[in-house]
Amino acid sequence: MKIFTNIFASLSIVLLLGACSNSTEATKAKNIAFVDSLISKMTLEEKLGQMTQVDRQFLNDISDISKYGFGSLLSGGGSTPEVNEPKAWAEMYDSYQKEALKSRLQIPLLYGIDAVHGHNNVVGATIFPHNIGLGATRDPKIVEAVARATALEVAATGIDWDFAPCLAVPDDYRWGRTYEGFSEDTELVTELGGAAVRGYQSANINNPNSVLACAKHFIGDGGTSFGTGLNKLIDRGNLAVSEDELRKRHLPPFQKAIDEGVATFMAAYNTWNDLKCHANKFLLTDLLKEELGFKGFVVSDWAAIEEIPGDYKSDIITSINAGIDMVMVPGAVKFGNESYENFLKLFKESVDEGLIPMNRIDDAVRRILMIKKQSGLFERPFSDQSLLTYIGSQNHRQIAREAVQKSMVLLKNKNDMLPLPKSGKKIIVAGRGADNIGMQSGGWTISWQGEMGNTTDGTTILEAIRSAVNDETSVEYSVDGKGVTGDVAVVVIGEKPYAEMEGDRKDLKIAKEDLAVISRFSDKNIPVVVVLLSGRPMIVTEELDEWDGFIAAWLPGTEGAGVADVLFGDYNPTGKLSFSWPKNMDQFPINPEDDHLYKFGFGLSY
Ligand code: BGC
Ligand code: BGC
Repeated sequence: MKIFTNIFASLSIVLLLGACSNSTEATKAKNIAFVDSLISKMTLEEKLGQMTQVDRQFLNDISDISKYGFGSLLSGGGSTPEVNEPKAWAEMYDSYQKEALKSRLQIPLLYGIDAVHGHNNVVGATIFPHNIGLGATRDPKIVEAVARATALEVAATGIDWDFAPCLAVPDDYRWGRTYEGFSEDTELVTELGGAAVRGYQSANINNPNSVLACAKHFIGDGGTSFGTGLNKLIDRGNLAVSEDELRKRHLPPFQKAIDEGVATFMAAYNTWNDLKCHANKFLLTDLLKEELGFKGFVVSDWAAIEEIPGDYKSDIITSINAGIDMVMVPGAVKFGNESYENFLKLFKESVDEGLIPMNRIDDAVRRILMIKKQSGLFERPFSDQSLLTYIGSQNHRQIAREAVQKSMVLLKNKNDMLPLPKSGKKIIVAGRGADNIGMQSGGWTISWQGEMGNTTDGTTILEAIRSAVNDETSVEYSVDGKGVTGDVAVVVIGEKPYAEMEGDRKDLKIAKEDLAVISRFSDKNIPVVVVLLSGRPMIVTEELDEWDGFIAAWLPGTEGAGVADVLFGDYNPTGKLSFSWPKNMDQFPINPEDDHLYKFGFGLSY
């Protein structure tokens, strides 16, 4: 009987699987037929429109969306609706979509945004730790949960596509984007990057609660040499490594993203052995699409094709022929970049003159339309505002708090000064990061570069400490630490928010004003625990002796309670460095074998 049931059960599983794969096969065939038929009706202009992405802030008129049939719009960092609140985002999205559907073939547009640590342009959204903090959790489950929650908040505003995860493998922390990377270690980036893709897209991109992920930046952005980038710094610099090394160090996370079904890729600004990735047919076509079999589409980075040597028309020809499928134009005339009108004019000329073959155009358009079709955009072009309650919800803030707990790395704990007692002692809280949502969130928060101060809703570290103790009066706060005294001081210091370009640094010293606050306590022999808010390890070798406790808090985001949970021992720290902690500025590019202040993988518990 038992055997019989088992046989029966396996038989029905086989039948079920058969039916499933038949129905996926059938859907696949239907999608292909749909896209083919659409393409057969399209004019050249309509095809080029699909390959064009414009930042909404540069639209001369909303009617340009249907006039040119743009395939995509984006919100770059800080490109927000006039009133920055969730409902206004959803309404803005719907108004653009409505306009797109007025075009002759009624093709909906894909709306893209950088939701790189939560839906971070939206006031009121949950802001999660930046990737560097998630790297320290070493926990793919929490990374997937964070990405899933982010996807829900993004989807709630109607937005379809997230320019994340960043799969950089940074090895020189002078780079202002170090914090966008999970780790200096390829394997860890691969594991956590895969988890992020699963979280954003869920098991099926045709899920109304999922968003399309984007593996970026392809390839090698984290490995460029200092001095070769913008302003002789590092961002957008040159990656000088052999193909072997490129494949070993930088490729595996991208391979994994493809295995997880990532829908899109973004090309990288940097050069590889002096050739712009955006101009590199070997990378974008031979390697990515042919060898690795990537079936989705490749978007260029912001005005990145303009950095290819030559005039704008030749930039278009080179990048499209290399394998770029959609160009983030983005129409930034006010920043001295090209307009979308000029882009479309030169693009069309290039095809008419035979400088870009028609089958390249059709391939790009097919890839874009297929993702639109597979993700259900044609069936569900508008936002579902019933999802708006997810934005900044208690449940998501709880996920963020857990991610923060797990991302804290306890580096020093002299005389077991931590965890702090919740009663019986007077705790001083000081430092410019203590009561500062903007600083604890870092770049890519509300604005592109981020900002100090009260930029969005959340719990500061000070507020969290106040609610953790049994009697609030036992906490005294002073930003600069002047005129206060107590049994122990928690000093929250670090870096002011920054993002790409502006975050490049020649050295990584702690600011003098921060050190002054610490000395105000150590001079009086009051034990100090330093909580460092930073987008990378900083050089603390000489100062460390003065500190009794030291926690790397990275850029935790809006849920400061996760920091307090560790300070008071409600969570016993488990975070481990996902980046080696150098002793001095001579240890870049990082080599894990060097004699560092703290080794890769270091992290104490109570
Ligand atoms: C960044 C990308 C980002 C894009 C859109 C670029 O400057 O390099 O990471 O996705 O802008 O904001
Ligand atoms: C960023 C955008 C930003 C723009 C401003 C780009 O590089 O990616 O998000 O809005 O620069 O210049």
